[in-house]
Amino acid sequence: MAHHIVLLPGDGIGVEVVAAATQVLDAVGEFSYEKRLIGGAAIDATGGPLPDETVDACQGADAVLLGAVGGPKWDSTEAGRPRPEQGLLGIRKALSLFANLRPVKPLTALLDASPLKRDRIEGTDLLVVRELTGGMYFGRKERDADRASDENAYTRPEVERIARVAFRAARRKVTNVDKMNVLEVSRFWREVVLDVHAREFPNVVVDHMLVDNAAMQLVSAPSTFDVIVTDNMFGDILSDEAAMITGSIGMLPSASVGEEGTPGLFEPVHGSAPDIAGRGIANPLATILSCALLLRHGLGLSAEADAVESAVDRALEGGLRTPDLGGDATTDQATRAVLEQL
Ligand code: NAI
Ligand code: MG
Repeated sequence: MAHHIVLLPGDGIGVEVVAAATQVLDAVGEFSYEKRLIGGAAIDATGGPLPDETVDACQGADAVLLGAVGGPKWDSTEAGRPRPEQGLLGIRKALSLFANLRPVKPLTALLDASPLKRDRIEGTDLLVVRELTGGMYFGRKERDADRASDENAYTRPEVERIARVAFRAARRKVTNVDKMNVLEVSRFWREVVLDVHAREFPNVVVDHMLVDNAAMQLVSAPSTFDVIVTDNMFGDILSDEAAMITGSIGMLPSASVGEEGTPGLFEPVHGSAPDIAGRGIANPLATILSCALLLRHGLGLSAEADAVESAVDRALEGGLRTPDLGGDATTDQATRAVLEQL
């Protein structure tokens, strides 16, 4: 049966890049689509950023592809006004997407687009697996006039499930990143990661790195990593640092996944780009590469995912450049260039 994908184009260029990316999906498989409202578009149509029917549709899907939400039209400081971003946080929560995956693989044709030197980043192909729904960002918060605190807590099941995502994704090894020399929660985290490793993934190599050293290694020797697994806050910081290895926001995909059997959410890292929306010049590659993640992590179609990624690489090697990459290709031309390589 055809895999069922819910499309949440959202606002601005989100609409344009999702339309482009579905053409690429159609070239590698058979999918049925259901388009739903989120963000500003949903506010305009229904008064709220995340209609119930959008949540219902996503819960019944095999995977969800999101464009971007937001724009100046909905930017108001007025208290109580609905905001587009609430739609995004709401759907992540509704689907319990506890793992955020950000792959970092500088494409050969764009090696010089990175702020890092070419010889440092060549050969880099890593994946940051960030825990997304626990830890410091969700701990109990306390504040009085002279003191404030954020509790940093993890439970065993929370650590086990994120560790499993990382071990399953590993090709060479998993590097667990923590701060066990200082933090109790890190000592517990590391112990649970080692338990999961010994019981379920004894054949995967695992090593451990303190987060400050990991931050340094990411820019000095990024090609030595395979999968990095870490908590919510360390992952927030390290995934942005790692993303800059590749350079361009119009190129970066991401995936947020939950328990097996629940649909994952796949989206470009960029926003709705109101400055270029409606002009047909948005770079669709971040969304097309998000489709590759959707195929691999959402539907288990690895060969199709590889095909999409290498088609993007070849299109760029063939000279494809949208304006954000210094060229003049339109969204349509970029999409066709990828389709021709498939
Ligand atoms: P943005 O990512 O939308 O744009 C930043 C700059 O990058 C702009 O100059 C834009 O033209 C360019 N850009 C972004 N994606 C591009 C693409 N695919 N091709 C070519 N150029 C591209 O971030 P900004 O301007 O800070 O936010 C705009 C709106 O998007 C805001 O309302 C913000 O809240 C929202 N936003 C939504 C996100 C999401 O839905 N996940 C993430 C980030 C921002
Ligand atoms: Mg961040």
